[in-house]
Amino acid sequence: MDIKKIMVVGAGQMGGGIAQVAAQTGYLVVLNDIKDEFVQKGLGVIQKNLARGVEKGKLQPEEKEAVLARIQPSVSLRDAKDVDLVIEAAVENMAVKAKIFEELDRVCPPGTILASNTSSLPITEIAACTRRPEQVIGMHFMNPVPVMQLVEIIRGLATNDQVAQAIEDLARKMGKVPVTVNDYPGFVSNRVLMPMINEAVYCVYEGVATVEGVDQVMKLGMNHPMGPLALADLIGLDTCLAIMEVLYQGFGDPKYRPCPLLRKYVKAGWLGRKSGKGFYEY
Ligand code: CAA
Repeated sequence: MDIKKIMVVGAGQMGGGIAQVAAQTGYLVVLNDIKDEFVQKGLGVIQKNLARGVEKGKLQPEEKEAVLARIQPSVSLRDAKDVDLVIEAAVENMAVKAKIFEELDRVCPPGTILASNTSSLPITEIAACTRRPEQVIGMHFMNPVPVMQLVEIIRGLATNDQVAQAIEDLARKMGKVPVTVNDYPGFVSNRVLMPMINEAVYCVYEGVATVEGVDQVMKLGMNHPMGPLALADLIGLDTCLAIMEVLYQGFGDPKYRPCPLLRKYVKAGWLGRKSGKGFYEY
């Protein structure tokens, strides 16, 4: 399977990062979102990241321009009509993803692979929204995408071997390390990470320690590069809550119940870095 042109759906922090790395690898990229304002914001972040690379001498100025020239902005999924792969990185909401995959399935040529960067939603269910479930796969990047090595690859029930192989090869070409896992709630990454973050929120909720105290314990005691609450702010508290809900409902096990304080912050609009306030202020 020869991948030359990739559409990334969603120009937020994950989609923007994926588009940047794909364009830096040499792929033609269509960066799509529902509004031009979101696409331009995503492009602005990519431009800033690349400019930082130039300042640090890691990238030539002409390379930066070449990378940007490979990214085409889009506000219509119809622009997926000639792409070889779509990587969807929209919000963590099954209804939204179902609509996107139904439309992509209608628009894309039969050979196009449809991947989702979902952090926990079932790939098998997303695949069932299309008439090509064997060509649907999870390609889960980590935040910040340009920095983190892992791509978790999730095979749905119907995903075929050639598609899984093509996506593993692509991840390697993008300089990442693919790890393939099966399709269960939260996969591996968020089944392990999110309960830790949720437990850190419980520590604050129950007055075991302050936000700073919890983060210091995990940074200095466990050598984590950042504390779980700072990491929650980076990921987005709404995303953290959505993933905990998927684990809670998917396994039906009370050990995954989201902390009420996490729910409260999300209701308040305190979503972490992206809203300027979460467990910390930005
Ligand atoms: N975009 C691009 N590059 C970035 C970046 C961003 N948002 N943030 C940092 N960087 C780059 C910096 O430019 C710097 O690059 P150089 O080495 O070329 O100079 C490098 O990363 C290190 O950055 P800093 O020196 O500023 O800071 P740091 O050493 O503290 O590293 C960090 C920052 C990489 C974010 C580090 O704290 C870290 O690894 N944190 C944990 C991140 C993590 O766990 N991510 C997974 C989240 S879970 C997820 O994504 C999945 C999900 O489904 C929820």
